[in-house]
Amino acid sequence: MCGIVGYIGTKNATDVLIDGLRKLEYRGYDSAGIAVVDSGKIAVRKAKGRLDDLEACMQKTGVPKGNCGIGHTRWATHGEPSDVNSHPHSCKRVTLVHNGIIENYIQLKEELVNDGYVFLSETDTETVAVMLEKLYKGDSIKAIDELCKKMRGSYALGIIFSDRPEEIYAIRKDSPLIVGLCEDESFIASDIPAVLKYTNRYYLIEENEIAVLNKSGVCVVDREGKKIEKSVFEAKWDIEAAEKGGYPHFMIKEINEEPKALKNTISPHIENGMPVIPVSELGDERLAALNKIHIVACGTAMHAGLIGKSAIEELARIPVEVSIASEFRYVNPIINKDDLVIIISQSGETADTLAALRLAKKSGAYTLAVVNVVGSSIAREADGAWFTWAGPEIAVASTKAFSVQCAIMYMLALRLSFAKGTLSEDEVKEKTAELMSIPDVVEKVIEQIDPACRELACQNFSTTDLFFIGRGMDYSLSVEGSLKLKEISYIHSEAYAAGELKHGTISLVTDGVPVVAIATQKPLFEKMISNIKEVKARGAMVTLVCRETAEVSNDVYDNIVKMPEISDLFMPLLLAAFIQLFAYYTSVERGCDVDKPRNLAKSVTVE
Ligand code: F6R
Repeated sequence: MCGIVGYIGTKNATDVLIDGLRKLEYRGYDSAGIAVVDSGKIAVRKAKGRLDDLEACMQKTGVPKGNCGIGHTRWATHGEPSDVNSHPHSCKRVTLVHNGIIENYIQLKEELVNDGYVFLSETDTETVAVMLEKLYKGDSIKAIDELCKKMRGSYALGIIFSDRPEEIYAIRKDSPLIVGLCEDESFIASDIPAVLKYTNRYYLIEENEIAVLNKSGVCVVDREGKKIEKSVFEAKWDIEAAEKGGYPHFMIKEINEEPKALKNTISPHIENGMPVIPVSELGDERLAALNKIHIVACGTAMHAGLIGKSAIEELARIPVEVSIASEFRYVNPIINKDDLVIIISQSGETADTLAALRLAKKSGAYTLAVVNVVGSSIAREADGAWFTWAGPEIAVASTKAFSVQCAIMYMLALRLSFAKGTLSEDEVKEKTAELMSIPDVVEKVIEQIDPACRELACQNFSTTDLFFIGRGMDYSLSVEGSLKLKEISYIHSEAYAAGELKHGTISLVTDGVPVVAIATQKPLFEKMISNIKEVKARGAMVTLVCRETAEVSNDVYDNIVKMPEISDLFMPLLLAAFIQLFAYYTSVERGCDVDKPRNLAKSVTVE
């Protein structure tokens, strides 16, 4: 989604803005622009395409020089990607950048057109700039307050008024925005990596707060202009964590970070060999009384929820319903106030997931957020938060965040089974000890299967369709594998529960169609082999992913990838590495933009 950066200080604002926007590229964008106060005037430069296109444009039209400016990467929603639709948008004294969607912009625009204002772009954002110009009578806070009263929707805004060239204003509602704090300079940004090079100290701007940045620092006021005392947050992420560190892409770096991320997520929550939920309201007594759990999330995070469902139902025997957040919101879900609602989100800002959380809270049920970003909206609004310590995930395709979300699902399932009495303390301790040993196994697996995944990518990169099949947890991983492949390699792919194939889909399996069959769950292995034989008999090119001890004759597969012996329960943590490496190398072979796949954004802050 769109990225915002703003800077005021002593450095060359253009350099800081472009550098900050590069750090936000992972959010996905199709055009970019900056506005810098140059010799008292606001110079705007914008261009469709990548930041390199913006820089090329500035080489022709002149690079603005000054110490105060705002910048933006746009992910088109209203109006195609084009120079004119790019941000910043200006109207007379007002220049601004915007992340989010103004839902009532058509009504606002009609009002402004009737007043005689002329519009240049098709965007909702230009309406905001024009409306602010109309409302601005010299009192900037009052004008912003009136603007907020008029707008409906989500927004993070960075604003410069031409008659206040040494100030930046920032406000937000349902779209992320932080203010970076430094000795003699300040920043605004959609996300921490944009400012990490300069500072790890920041304010989180809340709804109804207005941040005013000038050369002497930052003042946060309410909508009436009254000063608000803010707490300073410190990002634990260092700059290296948000850099590629010698890897060709963030995605492969992040896959290789899985063992560390798993250790960081698991170890702090194991006491005396038992998993401990870091939320005091979820003690054993309350867990024991639970009759139903809802897990709500989008995309890959929802797939981690599927692993949670299998683990919780298998170990603790509590029914779990997993819902896609964008569906959950509109089906009038039946939530009992004694239920537990788990919201999973890497970014903590996904618009549908946040809305689902708000809906769940109305039911009175306890809401637990499983989130990677401390201070994110979901983390703050849920009743309790359990953080995944994956560090910053920059590649659009989620990898290490998925693994650590699964790890939390396992710890929760184990604690629940202890509280419910479905497992004895010794049994829980035994499984917890195995979970703690998994990060080292994942490290070895990544190293071992890397060549096989490269080879598979070479064989399959030119295919147009590919099927994943599996049963139980292997099916959940198939669904995630299919998503990963689609999103970064653009190969059409479907995941099927292996037993379901012959109810329709097998008609698509003909000579040479690649099928990745995941068969690691012991009780389901024989059934899987029968399903594999069915596709093999129709000419499929089968890649079998199974345990190294599995006995299988070599006429049922064309390629084989072997996983070390661990229990069925934790196998998804090893399989995650396989599906991610396979998708990664396929994307590389096809020459795709691995970290920034087309049409996708890292943090989906619009519905
Ligand atoms: C796919 C992917 C997405 C996200 C989804 C939810 O690789 O990353 O499917 O998982 O957009 O995002 P978060 O977890 O930030 O709520």
